[in-house]
Amino acid sequence: MFMRIKQPRFELEITEEAASAFTRYQDWFAVDGDQNADTSAASDVVLSLHLDPQTQRFFLNWQNSSAALKLDVQCASFVESLSRGLATKQGPLNQALGKKTRRIFDATGGWGNDSMLFASQGMVVTTVERNPILAMMLHQAMSTLPLMFEGSSFSNNTFPEIHFGSADQVYKQLKEGSNSDTADVFDCAYFDPMFPPKRKKSAKSNKQMQFAQTLLQGDPDAADIAASLLEQGVRRLVVKRPSYAAVLLPNVEQTFSAKLVDYDVYLNF
Ligand SMILES: C[S@@+](CC[C@H](N)C(=O)[O-])C[C@H]1O[C@@H](n2cnc3c(N)ncnc32)[C@H](O)[C@@H]1O
Repeated sequence: MFMRIKQPRFELEITEEAASAFTRYQDWFAVDGDQNADTSAASDVVLSLHLDPQTQRFFLNWQNSSAALKLDVQCASFVESLSRGLATKQGPLNQALGKKTRRIFDATGGWGNDSMLFASQGMVVTTVERNPILAMMLHQAMSTLPLMFEGSSFSNNTFPEIHFGSADQVYKQLKEGSNSDTADVFDCAYFDPMFPPKRKKSAKSNKQMQFAQTLLQGDPDAADIAASLLEQGVRRLVVKRPSYAAVLLPNVEQTFSAKLVDYDVYLNF
């Protein structure tokens, strides 16, 4: 093993084969400013970070008392849809994003599935993730793609650009660093925080969900982050929520419903 990182919520073992790729992301794992963080307590999540020699993507092994899990950023359907040409834009999510959305700010990267869907539909995607493990895995996965497509007609900006940090802060930085107003840089922001728990517990969640719940422990500040994005001038904000949950913020302009989720659109003129 190359190194072990212990933070209040997780313990990450970096294997030898992942070491050199990991050093690029090491700064993201500083326990910033939290001098009182208790890192001596047993972690809920112990993970080991590996590197797939073929794809150069990271994967995680997670073993808890009831499950052993291999977790990675799944790029297969994304790569396939890019190879076939642009994916179709159908369904309530695309209706919520609006026909004119071309440049999108994905505020909640997660495993990158939505970001990759947007990119496969030809959108220019800027993605933010605040969990260092997920941000690192996404960044590494996206940075391996240009090589895979070298010589093909896909330019670099077809692939989501990954930023580590909280969406409101990253949006602010991009706005400050941009020559034009950020309102003109992104047509739309998409916000998909972790679902709030149901009052009545239903069937057991799958392993990947269990992992996310243990590692991320929900997104209790979701309403504040969404409000901050609107205050900062995001023109169109699409919030995904489970149909059982109340809206995140008042003044929803329009809602597009799928089977179990709703997409609420907020407009800022
Ligand atoms: C439900 S998952 C998103 C899933 C994602 N849409 C996908 O397709 O894989 C929520 C993710 O958003 C991240 N997140 C929540 N609030 C955030 C914020 N303010 N800034 C950046 N990331 C955030 C969480 O760490 C978590 O990984």
